[in-house]
Amino acid sequence: MSSQDIPEENLPEAQGDGHGSVEPTKDNPFADPGLPPHEHRIQDIDERAAKRSERVVAMLFTVSMLATIGFIASYVTIDAHKSVYIFPLGHISALNFALGTTLGVALFCIGAGAVHWARTLMSDVEIASERHPIEAEPEVKAQVLADFADGARESQFGRRKLIRNTMFGALALVPLSGVVLLRDLGPLPEKKLRTTAWKKGLKLVNMNTNEPLRASDIAVGSLTFAKPEGLEEHDEDFQKEIAKAALMLVRIQPDNIKDKQELEWSHEGVVAYSKICTHVGCPISLYEQQTHHVLCPCHQSTFDLSDGARVIFGPAGHALPQLHIAADAEGYLVAQGDFAEPVGPAFWERG
Ligand code: FES
Repeated sequence: MSSQDIPEENLPEAQGDGHGSVEPTKDNPFADPGLPPHEHRIQDIDERAAKRSERVVAMLFTVSMLATIGFIASYVTIDAHKSVYIFPLGHISALNFALGTTLGVALFCIGAGAVHWARTLMSDVEIASERHPIEAEPEVKAQVLADFADGARESQFGRRKLIRNTMFGALALVPLSGVVLLRDLGPLPEKKLRTTAWKKGLKLVNMNTNEPLRASDIAVGSLTFAKPEGLEEHDEDFQKEIAKAALMLVRIQPDNIKDKQELEWSHEGVVAYSKICTHVGCPISLYEQQTHHVLCPCHQSTFDLSDGARVIFGPAGHALPQLHIAADAEGYLVAQGDFAEPVGPAFWERG
């Protein structure tokens, strides 16, 4: 049905007319073909057809909402290792297929609903606008606001509450897909950043020889690196654990140890400190035996191992954590527990 088939009295009020063609002139060499006469759509003249379009748009937005709920339900309920046969794709992950399908349907239905709404219910009157200077006059700004208000009225945004509400529902639910995917960032660290592999009774094992250490194995003036007994390089989580548990040992004459707790936590002058710099976590590796200073090569933070590993230079904000050690019945150095504070770059400040 076209507007030609409708009696004149049933046609809606004219919403504006196009302009006629303009032939080129001397001043304006560009021809303007003008706008064809406007034809009313069936929805413009038949309220039942408009209602049908409204229901189609609402149905598309509702399907979008259901698809988003299906996306979330698939993510929660489908086993990540399950596969299904889909012709012609073959065997594919059931979870990926469900997530892709539901999210695709959710987004498609929002787009299709919006397009159908615009094509059938919003005003389709073409309006010719004369060119005007780029700089907007106050009256122009006022006109823009008025046009905006007209547009809102013509789109029937306020009148078609079913469309408006279902569209809001669909747009509000779609972002939930992204929120649910945040779960893939992994489990919360909980206490893992506060603890290391060190436990009471674990022997200190030389990182290079893989042999348990006695105090006598550590020469005065040398720097020895150690790891906890039982932590092997082929372990799946070796890198993760050694990044927190790496230890450096030095032997200092007990008379030269200035800090009282450091002396109590040492054994025969052997002191054990975290090897992880408290600035941004580089491994410390340079030892100056005359001064008992260790230097981080990254930004030159310097720690005094004869005085509780306090910072004497550089950007590090905290002393290195000390591991309380003693010797077992066979003389092997053993930990007396975990570090008393989190190791690494000032984690406890954020704790
Ligand atoms: S990481 Fe050690 S000084 Fe910056």
